[in-house]
Amino acid sequence: MTSLTRRQVLFGGTAMAAATMISGIPKTPLTPRMQIMRNSLAADIPRPDYMVRLSSNENPYGPSRVALKAVHENMHLANRYQFRDIGPLMQTVADLNGVTPDHVVVGTGSGEILSTVGMLTGMRGGSVVCADPTFQSLLRYADMAGVEIIRVPVDEGLNADLDGMRAALRDDTSLVYLVNPNNPIPNVIEGRSMREFVLEMAEDHLVFVDEAYHEYVDDPSYESMIGLIAEGHNNIIVSRTASKIYGLAGLRVGFGYAHPDLIREMRWRKTGQNTILGIAAAHASYLDDEFPKFSIRKNQESKAIVAKMCDELGLRYVKSNTNFTFIQTGMDNETLQSQMGEYGILTGRNFPPFNNEWSRISMSKPEEMEYFVQVYKQLYG
Ligand SMILES: Cc1ncc(COP(=O)(O)O)c(C=O)c1O
Repeated sequence: MTSLTRRQVLFGGTAMAAATMISGIPKTPLTPRMQIMRNSLAADIPRPDYMVRLSSNENPYGPSRVALKAVHENMHLANRYQFRDIGPLMQTVADLNGVTPDHVVVGTGSGEILSTVGMLTGMRGGSVVCADPTFQSLLRYADMAGVEIIRVPVDEGLNADLDGMRAALRDDTSLVYLVNPNNPIPNVIEGRSMREFVLEMAEDHLVFVDEAYHEYVDDPSYESMIGLIAEGHNNIIVSRTASKIYGLAGLRVGFGYAHPDLIREMRWRKTGQNTILGIAAAHASYLDDEFPKFSIRKNQESKAIVAKMCDELGLRYVKSNTNFTFIQTGMDNETLQSQMGEYGILTGRNFPPFNNEWSRISMSKPEEMEYFVQVYKQLYG
């Protein structure tokens, strides 16, 4: 733990109160047994003097040095609106993905692409078919715009049920939404079935494939759907983000890839505007090979630490192709959140109906995951 922070404090009243206050997580009363354990933990485990964020799937190492340098070099332009400065970034990401810049829309995070398409779907009306559980941004927008959301539960193995989604299609279904790898369940859909499914769906519907965690995938059966856009297929949108692998979540840069007709529709309807600093940081990041490799390596180290804990404790978990893992803790997620919050650890929110038994844990630095494991084992091991 010596590398964890500049200043470490033992678990104590003031630090605990501050931690609980910062977290904003409601407290669940501890049982007498938990109280005893907490006290013994207080004596044994040095805790960091900040909240360990295992809640939002962030990259703890970003922004990279090249991104920071780009921000510094462009800081003096922060008095300017960003108009055409986005061109070189669009060219770079287009080249990386084998398309032209008219196949790319840049958003304030891929979240903006999701909400724009949610709104577009609302304008078209009808229904959206998706797996359940999955990422909610697009669905929330579409729902608010009056579209019905048809949620198809994942199968026993927690995989997206493509046949179930086929069967759930209605005459009025205007959009099929797939998150691959999924969130909160960090698994992937096998490449060939995914490709066939997307092409079949795209004959009559818009298909949105959210690939926010694409760079973290190590399952060899995975296939990105950006290739379909490069092949000229219409009706397909793929999103990617600089938030995760490049650690730029706070600078809000994400991408939609699609046929130029669809891209035009999105560009006209989106409401956000990227900043010169975000664009500069993202551009420098996408030209850099080193930081993503480093992020992937560290993420694998962290995943191995948590997987080892799960194996030792006999906990079921989903092999992760992302920067988080999904663990069957067997307890109510709010209890876990609250008790981890007591130790300065933020964990993932509820994902109904899985929150009775499962929790999503984001990967942070390996030393922070070691701390999580120590706390988890002492509380529940
Ligand atoms: C599956 C998925 N898609 C999209 C996003 C949005 O990310 P951003 O708006 O930062 O690009 C997230 C964020 O956690 C996510 O998990």
